Amino acid sequence: MDTAIEKTLAEGLAQLKEVKTQVELDRFYAVYLAKKGAIAGLMGQMRSIPNEEKAAFGKAVNEAKSQLTNEYENKKQALEEEALSAKLQAEQIDLSLPGRGAGVGHQNPFRLIIDEVTDIFLDMGYEVVSGRDVETDLYNFELLNVPADHPARDMQDTFYLKGGKLLRTQTSAAQAHVMLERKGLTPIKMISPGKTYRRDDDDMTHSHQFAQIEGLVVDKNISLGNLKATLELFAKKMFGEKREIRLRSSYFPFTEPSVEVDVSCFACQGKGCSMCKGSGWIEILGAGMVNPKVLKMCGYDPDVWSGFAFGVGVERVAMLRYGIDDIRRFYADDFRFLSPFYAK
Ligand code: DAH
Repeated sequence: MDTAIEKTLAEGLAQLKEVKTQVELDRFYAVYLAKKGAIAGLMGQMRSIPNEEKAAFGKAVNEAKSQLTNEYENKKQALEEEALSAKLQAEQIDLSLPGRGAGVGHQNPFRLIIDEVTDIFLDMGYEVVSGRDVETDLYNFELLNVPADHPARDMQDTFYLKGGKLLRTQTSAAQAHVMLERKGLTPIKMISPGKTYRRDDDDMTHSHQFAQIEGLVVDKNISLGNLKATLELFAKKMFGEKREIRLRSSYFPFTEPSVEVDVSCFACQGKGCSMCKGSGWIEILGAGMVNPKVLKMCGYDPDVWSGFAFGVGVERVAMLRYGIDDIRRFYADDFRFLSPFYAK
């Protein structure tokens, strides 16, 4: 064999032995086997070879080429196998590792309270009426005996919408809707849970958005005694069999008389603790006998019908029940806040 061919072949094989990466292999290909590589260079020398030696020279170059090509292919395959096994090694799965738990959605605690309260009143034969978040001044205020110049409006700073509507400040608006729908003809026994809105600065105990549950009973001969018995039953079911309630005189424009209702403290059994601020009693809701003016405006003859109403602050009950210290947590979308309630 021609010494130039021998030399190229020997060098090529030696270099290929040293190749350890795909980049090096590509470089080898470029130097020896590509169009402008060493083998092609040898073929190019054919012109200067005497005719009688051309065949032998060509054969020798081809042999060298096929030997280098073979070795190149072998190396290529070896590198590919190496890369694959390195990849498999890196991606090895440890089946003994403990799995990661999938996140599960939980109900917001105020939803739990609404469901619980709703169940208690459904058991007592109440119907559940859904109100509306966007209200008119008429239903949110006027029909509840809160005319435009009434000072009680100051306590319920309102979000007004374009076109004169507003976000309801109290679920009491549902009272007027139900009474007007029933046209003064049938008794009513309903609750209406839902969201309410006030222009409050948010802090630990105030939120511009919160939820209430409204209750309304209208029938013949309804008395304050009925209200008290109903709320006592509710308090016992909600806060425990041993609970007592007390009514304190209060004022709401839509009830007369109006009361604030306290429940005996379930943390200290009425002895006095930080939860009840030492008094043994915790305020849970506002209530009263439906003001005859409201009955009349809403189509019920106050000489025939009487009724009671109450309004419960949902977050307040949830805070007491679950020991939540800040009302803003209800609306913070923090999964950690929701998780303890999952077990309930
Ligand atoms: N609407 C009152 C409020 O938001 C709560 C309330 C008090 C509702 C007395 C009633 C009621 O139905 O009789 O402060």
